Amino acid sequence: MIQLTIDGKDLAVPEKKTVLEAARGAGIDIPTLCHDPRLAPYGGCRLCLVEIDGMAKPVTSCTTPVREGMVVRTVSERLYRLRRTIVELLLSDHPNDCMTCIGNGDCTLQELAYFYGLRDNRFHGARREHHRVDANPFITREQNKCVLCGLCVRVCEEVQGVSAIGFADRGFETKIVPPFGEDLNCEFCGQCVAVCPTGALSARLWAGKPRTGGIRSTRTVCTFCGCGCNLTLKTKANEVFRVDSEPTTHNRGWLCVKGRFGYDFINSPERLRTPLIRRSKGGPLEAVDWPEALQHIVSAVTRIKAEHGPDAFAGLSSARCTNEENYLFQKLLRAAIGTNNVDHCARY
Ligand code: SF4
Ligand code: SF4
Ligand code: SF4
Ligand code: FES
Repeated sequence: MIQLTIDGKDLAVPEKKTVLEAARGAGIDIPTLCHDPRLAPYGGCRLCLVEIDGMAKPVTSCTTPVREGMVVRTVSERLYRLRRTIVELLLSDHPNDCMTCIGNGDCTLQELAYFYGLRDNRFHGARREHHRVDANPFITREQNKCVLCGLCVRVCEEVQGVSAIGFADRGFETKIVPPFGEDLNCEFCGQCVAVCPTGALSARLWAGKPRTGGIRSTRTVCTFCGCGCNLTLKTKANEVFRVDSEPTTHNRGWLCVKGRFGYDFINSPERLRTPLIRRSKGGPLEAVDWPEALQHIVSAVTRIKAEHGPDAFAGLSSARCTNEENYLFQKLLRAAIGTNNVDHCARY
């Protein structure tokens, strides 16, 4: 363990931890924009600057490993001015259209501007001109809102192993783009959208949907496959309009395209809401209540089993059911009907 002092607190932390990790572990908050504990440190935004005794200039806490006897300050007049100026510089080349931005209420840059009380800006000059790009089915890119934190690039490379996007050009012209400046053509997992701290990346499905106020969050489990990733459904007025996942879940907040974006079926008016029975061959499907439907099934199963034996049946279950439902389904086939003809769509 390494002994160090942060803001007057004596701490003992494992070696190889960074100053930022040590501070946060001790409940000391340091602002960050390009940091995600699930990804490799990057040191791009410079917001996490701290002062360390013996060092002439402030250093980035997210990339500085702890050292024995370090004395660190996370709060000072100089640090406040530096951090405030960094945010001011970012906002000097930002559209600041929070009113209509999909990121409103869920934007780290907006929170920082609020915290530092940045109503006016001392810096004026050239601005980047990027158009909104959303020619793909899932993701909207608004690069004029990008703060070049690189979180999207890192998650795509480190977590997805896809590297579908990267930095292009240099200096003021730097931007995040897919190869050859074309639109995204990737796995559309949306991990980049999930980590983006601004409205630069968003899901097309979220456009025009509620951003803040009256939103319910409900934790549940994805039913698309056996990984069982934890989801948080955002709902309002009985509509699921967004799916997120928390970094504290067993899937660490990472989802695939199905879990993150495959939820529109929940709100579809074409969903079956009552049982349907076809009373005669070629006849129409009629909506019935559950007691009548179950009675119909029991009569048909009893008749077929008597005429053809239990192996006339086969059951195919679904990855969209819970484990418990799948267990009960195979039990029904094996114990009630008497056949082992049971399978599951996610077996392969
Ligand atoms: S990205 Fe954030 S700061 Fe920028 S317009 Fe959107 S909400 Fe406002
Ligand atoms: S959607 Fe997934 S694969 Fe595509 S760029 Fe974003 S992180 Fe990479
Ligand atoms: S698009 Fe978002 S996540 Fe990617 S670099 Fe820009 S601000 Fe960061
Ligand atoms: S969080 Fe440390 S430089 Fe961005």
